[in-house]
Amino acid sequence: MTRKIVVTGGAGYIGSHVCLELVQSGRDVLIIDDFSNAHPEAVNRIGALAGRKVDFLRADLADHGQRQAVADKIKEFGADGAVHLAGLKAVGESVAQPARYYRVNIGSALTLVDAMEAAGAKSIVFSSSATVYGDLNQNPVTETGRTGATNPYGRTKLYIEEILKDVAAADGSWGVVNLRYFNPVGAHHSGRIGEDPNDIPNNLFPFIAQVAVGRRDELSVFGNDYPTRDGTGVRDYIHVVDLAKGHVAALDYLEKGNRGATAVNLGAGRGYSVLEAVAAFKRASNRDIPYEIAPRRDGDVAEIYADPTRAKELLGWSTEKTIDDMCADHWRWQSQNPNGYAGD
Ligand code: UD1
Repeated sequence: MTRKIVVTGGAGYIGSHVCLELVQSGRDVLIIDDFSNAHPEAVNRIGALAGRKVDFLRADLADHGQRQAVADKIKEFGADGAVHLAGLKAVGESVAQPARYYRVNIGSALTLVDAMEAAGAKSIVFSSSATVYGDLNQNPVTETGRTGATNPYGRTKLYIEEILKDVAAADGSWGVVNLRYFNPVGAHHSGRIGEDPNDIPNNLFPFIAQVAVGRRDELSVFGNDYPTRDGTGVRDYIHVVDLAKGHVAALDYLEKGNRGATAVNLGAGRGYSVLEAVAAFKRASNRDIPYEIAPRRDGDVAEIYADPTRAKELLGWSTEKTIDDMCADHWRWQSQNPNGYAGD
């Protein structure tokens, strides 16, 4: 029997890679996306890479007026489970517009829970984040350690995890995996899908890539006086294709009948500094990446990397790709699509 999976936010950076891996694992996919931070061309390219079209609904999950249409479509599709990625994700914006972040992110999750419940498909894999650890946990961070986000975006991730836990506690036929992503980077090896930020990138890799391709003059390195090996921030970068495979493994786990709610780190288990990431990208792209040292960014922690043991034990999943793979694939996407999906 072919499993049918709803992917909210399926046209976005992580979503597009998740959809492709799901189709390649033999599942049918229904993307629900409103394109607020994604491009319709991504859906075409997923279909082209997968060798068949994916089902699609353009809808805003946070809009009450669209809830019925979403529920109807999910029922008609015959969903068995969902991967929930739709949401707003800019930390700085969430500090300036907290109510909007809570309304959109939490409202979207609730719409999906109701629709899946109505369809009798009580399995959700949720895109959470290592941001739920704030700076409370000890490296390598474990799922059983303390949580506590430092900004509204992070709190939406934490609250949605808690909501899904409550849903699973109230009804034992629900299965939930809260995947806590470390730092997803890179792109599909084909160079056809990848990260396409709307505005000035907030995150390190898309910024480096835009400097390498000549769209921006130089990178600002946020702080070189952290207590790390070279003074710059250390993160656990994970190839987006490895990350996408983690979602397939989480669905496999739920489809085996595992119920209840479980949090699982998706990380490599080792960290790279900002300067090490710049050096790796330079090697992969053979381009110069000018940078200046800038003040620390508010809310940044010095160092964070995962303990990936639970993912291995529970899901049989671990990362396969290296930092050089991440940079080479990110560069292939950026150099083949210098202006993202919009073309030039
Ligand atoms: C950030 C978010 C996190 C979110 C994640 C999503 C913050 C504080 N954290 O994680 O909540 O879940 O993105 O992907 O925004 N850096 C620079 N120059 C830049 C950009 C980044 O030096 O122009 C440094 C940062 O200080 C950090 C590292 O690069 O040390 C990684 O930064 P980034 O890619 O933004 O990821 P996080 O901050 O880990």
